Amino acid sequence: MEKAGRIDPWSSEQSTDYSRIVQQFGLSSVDSRALPNPGMLHRRGIVFAHRDLDVVVDSMNSNEPFGVLTGLMPSGRMHLGHSMVIEQVRWFQEQGADVTVAVADLEALATRGTSLSIGRDTALREYVLNYAALGLDSGNTNVYFQSSRPAVQRLAFTLGQRTNLSEFEAIYGFNGESNLAHVQAPLVQVGDIVHPQMEEYGGLRPIVVPVGVDQDPHLRLTRDIVQKSNWFNVKDSKSGGLTVALSVQEGNYSQLGVSESGKVDMGPREQVIARLENAISDLGFSDVKSNPKHGTIEIPGATSSDISRIRMKALSIERQMGGMGLSPPCSTYHRFAVGMTGEKMSSSKPETTIFMDDGIDVMAKKVKRAISGGQPTVEEHRRHGGDVTKDVAFQYLQFFFEKDDSALEEVKQDYESGRMLAGEIKQICIDSATEWLNELKEKRSQWEDRVDEFLAPDAL
Ligand code: TRP
Repeated sequence: MEKAGRIDPWSSEQSTDYSRIVQQFGLSSVDSRALPNPGMLHRRGIVFAHRDLDVVVDSMNSNEPFGVLTGLMPSGRMHLGHSMVIEQVRWFQEQGADVTVAVADLEALATRGTSLSIGRDTALREYVLNYAALGLDSGNTNVYFQSSRPAVQRLAFTLGQRTNLSEFEAIYGFNGESNLAHVQAPLVQVGDIVHPQMEEYGGLRPIVVPVGVDQDPHLRLTRDIVQKSNWFNVKDSKSGGLTVALSVQEGNYSQLGVSESGKVDMGPREQVIARLENAISDLGFSDVKSNPKHGTIEIPGATSSDISRIRMKALSIERQMGGMGLSPPCSTYHRFAVGMTGEKMSSSKPETTIFMDDGIDVMAKKVKRAISGGQPTVEEHRRHGGDVTKDVAFQYLQFFFEKDDSALEEVKQDYESGRMLAGEIKQICIDSATEWLNELKEKRSQWEDRVDEFLAPDAL
């Protein structure tokens, strides 16, 4: 993996060259028209990239189960930046997803020294309460703590077998001086991301993880590890069509027909091939060419768009045969809203963002001081208009506060044409934010004594 393509998930630097990121990390662009009932962040291009989102969209369209997973660091206060992922989680939930929320209390303990009890407190009071207020449905949301879900920790250990320090060096830039706590955290996160597929947490189904690009290294690591663990790989074939290939590895020799001496054991080998062939023909592909000895099945009539359907079948066969049968996580990526002062939003710099429980006066003061896209004088502003790409007030309306597309468009036109002054757009932002914060406060007070309803049994 290329060093230049690294984004350090723990660094405060944020690259915002989004088209470069799409290319470098092999992401796909989001076309909101391909989504059923696209949300505000999709329609506005704020959710700009994805991996395998089409798999999840297929599940939505065919009413099949799928899940969404998100994680939170239980430190600091929740601010606008954190709310973007929750807005997407809510959208996925409305489209039928079950929701799992990982409280990264082990990561906070290891990388920030936050005690588990303080982490728990912060998670519930600061984050889960606001998630409730933002409209997540407690009926199918499960919040858990990394520290009290052994399945997640076990996965971190088991899946750790599929990676090594060189890979960590390439992905995260670790070296000999790297703190081991920082080395452990990503493996626990891999456990967070894959465990909802386990039978006791909902079983095999697509899982989507909406994140900011800073979290992509973890997703690449997870996909890589998952793919290495799979017994059957489904790939585009050089001759056109798709190939399913057995992946013989420790733990599946006898099931995949490899004898102790390393020779192919044709009895069991033919059995597993026949099993795969049957599943493939159930999907409507009657023409397949198998080579049991090589452990491959060619499906000339299939295309890339069939990969996930065929993979799901192969994974369920793998599970029946005793394997983990893990599917690679799907993911989406959102742009970051600018910090109010021009630097990155950060809990430790209150002037850079608006906290979920900021008072109206505090918020108004921050908006008034925020970076403006207005011209230096009223005269120049009337002539040249404001620059919405620099204007915090506009961006916050676009990212957070103005839900109505046509109202937003009107503000944009008025501002860009110079009809609306910088002070005026700030006042519009303050008015919308006031409504937004007041509603959130009201909802928080309704949920204050009932956050437990969001907790999984192992988190109570
Ligand atoms: N590492 C994430 C952060 O720094 C928190 C996290 C832990 C997470 N597990 C996760 C995020 C799983 C998404 C999915 O904020």
